[in-house]
Amino acid sequence: MDKNVFIFKNKNIMLGVTGSIAAYKSAQICSRLTQSGASVVVVMTPNAAKFVSPLTFSSISRNETVVELFSNKDKLYHVSLAHSVDIIILAPATANTISKLACGICDNFLTTTIIAAKCPVVIAPAMNEGLYLNSAVQSNISALEGTGKYFFVGPIKGKLACGESGLGRMEDEDIIIERAGELLQYRTDLAGKKVMITAGGTREDIDTVRYISNYSSGKMGHALAEEAYFRGAEKVILISANKNLPVPYGVDVVYVKSSSDMKNEVLQHFSRSDVTIMAAAISDIIPEKRYGYKLKKKDNIISKLKFKENENILHILADKKGKSQYLVGFSAESTDDVKNTLDKIRGKNIDMAVANDISRKDIGMMSDFNEVAIVTQDGCTKKLAKDKKRIIAREIWDEIIENIKE
Ligand SMILES: Cc1cc2nc3c(=O)[nH]c(=O)nc-3n(C[C@H](O)[C@H](O)[C@H](O)COP(=O)(O)O)c2cc1C
Repeated sequence: MDKNVFIFKNKNIMLGVTGSIAAYKSAQICSRLTQSGASVVVVMTPNAAKFVSPLTFSSISRNETVVELFSNKDKLYHVSLAHSVDIIILAPATANTISKLACGICDNFLTTTIIAAKCPVVIAPAMNEGLYLNSAVQSNISALEGTGKYFFVGPIKGKLACGESGLGRMEDEDIIIERAGELLQYRTDLAGKKVMITAGGTREDIDTVRYISNYSSGKMGHALAEEAYFRGAEKVILISANKNLPVPYGVDVVYVKSSSDMKNEVLQHFSRSDVTIMAAAISDIIPEKRYGYKLKKKDNIISKLKFKENENILHILADKKGKSQYLVGFSAESTDDVKNTLDKIRGKNIDMAVANDISRKDIGMMSDFNEVAIVTQDGCTKKLAKDKKRIIAREIWDEIIENIKE
């Protein structure tokens, strides 16, 4: 707690409390945060209010505790509160509320606000071991973890309120507060930085109805942009060739179609970008000529299909890159990915490359999962184990942030 004491000063925190025997322990968390200078708004589920009185929390936090969704306070208080807090701590979290969050069920003020929020949410489960290990509850926990927004702390093994012993006891209050402090720090990792990320597969027109492209879904680039916002980047520009993905909150999106549109946009923003990640799969071959009409079979189409090698936008950026800028490329490989990737960046003005193995169906292009190797100019390699792209995005940013600090 001591090392985080300053981090909470003037921070806006929502403390969520649900219907568990451990609800009384939240009073201690509330008190500690308030004493550290944070402004704490406690939100309870109606069931939590059966365990501890809202008045207890109102007295400790010196803010009115919220229980009812349809109160007269502010018609859209669930949205204004969700968007005004720096962090949410949900402690204790019942199996019921965890599962509602995973399924997007907004039937009370607490779940509605947490689901609407765009900040990290620390979840401290507290429940009987049977509930905790239930397969539905476990898959809901995994689903929440995979979004990148929810950070679980505990539970731990120990004596449970029901008299049994097992895995389900809420993590110690100090550890929960410490995790929240770490996440507040994490939220400022990219403070003051402008970030540009490219995503998706470009489309290169052959004629007015045909094009060549690739299977890139844009999911990796979108996840990287979402994580950059989460870590407090001053500006996040996402140049995306995929319109079908949701736009990450807080990110400015520019949609492009071809590699030439991509190049124009990237060059327009590059000089102002502190970190650029070229995650898009930009066509390396393009048609020699684009026909302004539909080629007909009788026009001897095959003889007209001529392709040429495309220019490499990453290399163009490498030539322009200033000393304080950080440039990351992505490399789609099917064999010996690390060696090929290192060969691609060695001696070039590219700081890092992320090697994707595109030969596997369970990761990479189109998949929600990835497993990558991070290669830096000095030859260092770090392999990231298979995980949701959102979590891989966090780990890639961890490495970039570590390197730009040096
Ligand atoms: C005395 C008592 C203690 C309970 N403790 C827990 C608990 O620690 N964890 C849990 O997940 N559910 C617990 N429950 C069940 C929840 O209160 C129940 O699932 C409720 O619907 C949760 O509502 P909420 O998630 O909206 O707060 C308990 C129920 C009772 C009656």
